[in-house]
Parts: sequence; C-alpha cells; structure tokens
Amino acid sequence: MDLIIKNGTIVTDSETYEADIGIEDGRIALIGKDLAGADEVIDARGKYVMPAGLDVHVHLQLPFCGTVSSDDFVTGTKAAAAGGVTTIVDYAIQSKGNSVTEAVRARRGEADGKVCVDYSLHGGITDWNEQTRNELKKLIDDGIVSYKMFMIYRSEGWMATDSMLYQALLETKEHGGTIMVHAESVDVLDYLLDKYHNEEDMKKYGAYCHVLSRPNFIEEEAIQRAIKWAEESGGRLYVVHMSTGGGADLIKEAKKRGVNVFAETCPQYLLLEDDLFKGENGHLYGTCPQIKKKEDIDRLWHGLAVGDVDTLATDTCTFDTKQKAMWNGDFTKIPFGMPGSELMMPLVYTYGVREGKITLNQFVRYLCTNPAKIFGMYPAKGSLQVGTDADILIFDPDQKVTVDYRNMETNCDWSPYQGWELTGYPHITLLRGKVIAREGSFVGHVGGGKFIRRKKAIN
Ligand code: URP
Ligand code: ZN
Ligand code: ZN
Repeated sequence: MDLIIKNGTIVTDSETYEADIGIEDGRIALIGKDLAGADEVIDARGKYVMPAGLDVHVHLQLPFCGTVSSDDFVTGTKAAAAGGVTTIVDYAIQSKGNSVTEAVRARRGEADGKVCVDYSLHGGITDWNEQTRNELKKLIDDGIVSYKMFMIYRSEGWMATDSMLYQALLETKEHGGTIMVHAESVDVLDYLLDKYHNEEDMKKYGAYCHVLSRPNFIEEEAIQRAIKWAEESGGRLYVVHMSTGGGADLIKEAKKRGVNVFAETCPQYLLLEDDLFKGENGHLYGTCPQIKKKEDIDRLWHGLAVGDVDTLATDTCTFDTKQKAMWNGDFTKIPFGMPGSELMMPLVYTYGVREGKITLNQFVRYLCTNPAKIFGMYPAKGSLQVGTDADILIFDPDQKVTVDYRNMETNCDWSPYQGWELTGYPHITLLRGKVIAREGSFVGHVGGGKFIRRKKAIN
C-alpha cells in the first residue's frame, strides 16, 4: 500500500470505531486493525478519520452584482482543501439566448487545470425554451444532473417563472435530474425593496434595510410554491440556502406527504443573527437570502437534529471589503455573498457537535454523505469504504484556532467569524490519497483536482 492512516477513530454517517485505513492508487484498499506494509504511515492517534467534506454550493469567480466574486477556482479550492473539503460543486449559469451546454463548456474552461480539489457543476437554467428542454437529457447523461433555478434576480436575467420551474421539474424527472431552487418571492420582494429604497429609510436604517425588505415570508412563500410544483409534477426538488425556521416546517410537512424534496442550510444561517446589519460593517454580511433571527437558528439546528434539513453547504460567494464598499449606503447595491468553504467544517463541529446540537455522525451525514448521495457522487465521495476515493479528513477535535482571515487561504480581507474561537480543526486533508492540506494550509498542487461526472438519481 502507499499509505496507512493508523490509530485514528473512524467516523462515518452511522458508525464510530477504532481502525486503520490503507490506501493504494488513490483509493481505500483496506480498513482494519493493525494494518502494516505501506511506504508511508500517518499517525492519527487522538484524531477523527472521516470522509472529507463536500461543499455542494459555491460560486467562484462569479460575475455578480456588478463585480466578480473574489475567490477564484484556485484560491476558492485551496480554501476548501484547508477546510477539509475535497469536493466542491459550482454553477454553470446559462445566459439568455445561449444553451446550458455552452455555459458548462465555458465554466469547465475556467476551472479545469486550476482547481485544487475535485469539482463538479450544477447547471443554472435561466432561459427555458425548446433548446433548453432538449439539451437536458444529454447533459444529465453526461453527469450534469442538477440545475439551479432562481425565483428572484429579475434584473440579472436569471429569474425563473413558476411555469419554467414546473416544466423543468417535469423534464428533469424523466431523466433522473434534480431542480435546485433559490426560493424568494419576487413580486412582493420588489415591492418591499422599493418601499425601503428611499433616502430617509436608508439614512435611518442603513444596511438593516436589507433585513426589513426581506421578512421571513419572502422565503417561506416561495418554498411553499416550489414544493407545490414538485408535488404536482413528481419532480425532484432541492431547496438551496434555506434560512428560515418556517422553511424547515414546510420541508418537514412536504417530506411527510412524500414529496421528493431536500433542503440545504448554511453555517451563516446557523450562527449569525440579523442584528449584525445594524453595525457599522453590517453591509459585509449581505447575502440573498439574508441571515435571520435566533428563532430561525434554533429551528434550523433542530431541523438538522431530526432530519428535516438534509445537507450543509456554504453558498461561498466571496466579496472583499472594497467590493462590499460598492454599496455606498444603498442596500440594493450590496454585492451579495460571503466566504465560506474554509470554515464550514470547524464551525459546524465547534458550534454544532461540541454544543450537542448534532451528533458526530450527523456532522458526517450533512457535510459529506448526504450531499454526495443527493448529487450523484456516492460512494466515491462522502464515504469511507474499500474501493472508494481516499478523500479523507483527519480532524483534530481538540485543536484550538482563533479565526483570522490573514491566516487563511481565501482571497478575502475580512471574515464573518473574525476572532471567533474554534475547538476542532482539520489536521490533514487527503484528496485521492495525497495530502493536500495540513493545519489549515494548502500543500497540494494547483490543478490537482478533477472534474466529476455525476450519476443520475434513481428514485
Ligand atoms: O448571496 C448570495 N447567495 N450570493 C450568491 C448567489 C446565490 O443566490 O446563491
Ligand atoms: Zn441563490
Ligand atoms: Zn448560491
């Protein structure tokens, strides 16, 4: 064997036990006690040995809100590796008049040879027509098995109508695909944006206008509607970046009725409260949807504890302070998004597992196994089994780290978690059997990541 990881505690989504892992040709060759006979040994005593994380929601070098997100395919994937993540899924968003196939080709041109971890792409459907309908089968056969549709972003030209959503659910159902939805209610949102978009309110409330214009029902109503289209079409639906407790209630009820629906939430919706928008740098926290309130945080953690919520991902869309400054006092002009992948695992471990909100096995389930299963990458990714990719995170549960963006791989000059104390941090990250990060630093080689052709859904 090439490598043995010895003396660690293996953690999967359902088991925790002591064993060694032997690796050969980038795959797990053996799991057992007292393994020997390898060129190299890593001693993992006192550490957890778990599947490396997946971050199935990132936007690297995305042209958005009048700028381009500042983590590109190099820095964003170095950051992922440092944070224990070896698979990311970005988006290839169709532009009006062009095909999704063309968007995928262009995005691969940007990412291939640059990515430092393995990656795949969700399609983004913005222009529904016969060409789009007809290209989906081949795209899904070729491994692009999931498609995001946006219920907002009219002015970006990305918005999907209900009819588009319903038709795309019907079509992807036929081919084993999944529709992912950004659920916010555009017409009422536009009214509320307009209502607060005046000098007096913007002077009085500043960036908090972002909160005032997006009450919880903006997300909840849209989730409810998307669920209805999934229920009536029989399509497979995944709600991205769910931020509200009410959303978790709707998902729970829909699952009970047998709707084929999954929901994702993100660390920012589990850890940050919307009072932050009242502070001097409130605009930095601007995302769509925005961070919400304590009750939502509690309900979302509960949703993870009982399985109403299926995955954790970050919605990484990094903008530095200079880019964020483009808002210039106008809450509608904040570049929406924050850095994410690098701290996802340590944040969820520190504030989720250590605080008893979720178990260690649930940690693996939501960050590794479920995203891999839902998006057609299991068991190669998100599991520890003989024959699967040796994408492994050796996690030190006692390592204390104070968050400081200056010590991180992300190309961001601030952090939403600056100064936060973490206990539990990635020690070593392996991608297909090779060490690519140690103690929070990338040590692999640029371009070492591969494109993943994903499998279609069976149900
Ligand atoms: O604020 C966000 N979420 N930016 C990225 C685009 C999106 O809607 O996911
Ligand atoms: Zn979105
Ligand atoms: Zn996103």
